[in-house]
Amino acid sequence: MRMRRKKHGAERIAACAEILIAEPTVPAVSPNVYFPIQKPIHMEIGCGKGDFAVGMAAKYNDCNWIAMERVPDVACVALEKAMIAKDSRPDNLRFLIGDAKNLTEWFLPHSVDCIYLNFSDPWPKKGYAKRRLTHGGFLELYCSVLRPGGLLRLKTDNEGLFDFSLEQFAACGLTVEWQTRDLHHSEKADENIMTEYERNFSEKGQVIYSAWVRFPGKDEKTC
Ligand SMILES: C[S@@+](CC[C@H](N)C(=O)[O-])C[C@H]1O[C@@H](n2cnc3c(N)ncnc32)[C@H](O)[C@@H]1O
Repeated sequence: MRMRRKKHGAERIAACAEILIAEPTVPAVSPNVYFPIQKPIHMEIGCGKGDFAVGMAAKYNDCNWIAMERVPDVACVALEKAMIAKDSRPDNLRFLIGDAKNLTEWFLPHSVDCIYLNFSDPWPKKGYAKRRLTHGGFLELYCSVLRPGGLLRLKTDNEGLFDFSLEQFAACGLTVEWQTRDLHHSEKADENIMTEYERNFSEKGQVIYSAWVRFPGKDEKTC
C-alpha cells in the first residue's frame, strides 16, 4: 500500500503504545502475554488501515486479535482507528509493525489459532512469486506458528493470486476446507467483515475470492 509520508508518524505511533507490540522478545513468547485474558489468537497479516481487525475484534470477543502491518505509516492509521473508543471495546486487539517473513521471531511455535490474509499484494510478475504471502515459503512459516489443525483464511479480488494460492496449498498438502469465487453471494456473506480494499473492489463490481485452509493436525505430516 502506497501512502504519503505521515507528519509526526513516529510520535503518533508512540501515542498508541498501549496497543502496540513494539519489538519481538528473545526468546519469543506466546501472543497471549500481551492480553489481559488468555484466548485463542487470531492474526491478520497485512492489515492495512485496520478496518477488518478492528471490526473482527469488536465482533468476536472470545478471541484475542493481532494485526501485523509492515509499513509504519499505514499501521499508524490502523492504530489510531483502534484507539478511538478503545475504552468502550473489549481489550482484545494488538498491533505489530513488521514483515511476515520474520513472523517466527515474534511468537512461539504453534501459538496462533488462525491467520487471515486479506487482499495481499498479488505480485503478478513471475519473478516475484516468492513475495506472495501464499507462496510455499510463507506457508511453511504459518505452519510453524499455527497450532496443529490451525486455519488460514484468504480473501482476494485477484483471480491469478487465488489460483496460485490454491496450487501452493495443494503442493504443501494443505486441505482447502471451503472456497468460493463469489464471497459476497456465498453462505458466508452475512458474517463477512469487509476490509478497505474489499469495499473499494466490490463497489466497482469486482467479485471476491475466498478460501479457508486447514493446516495439519497433531499427528499428521507437517508442511
Ligand atoms: C493491498 S493491501 C491490503 C490491506 C488490507 N488487508 C485490506 O484488505 O484493505 C496489502 C497490505 O499488506 C501489507 N503487506 C504486504 N506484504 C507484507 C508483509 N510481508 N508483511 C506484513 N505486511 C505486508 C502492505 O503494506 C499493505 O498494507
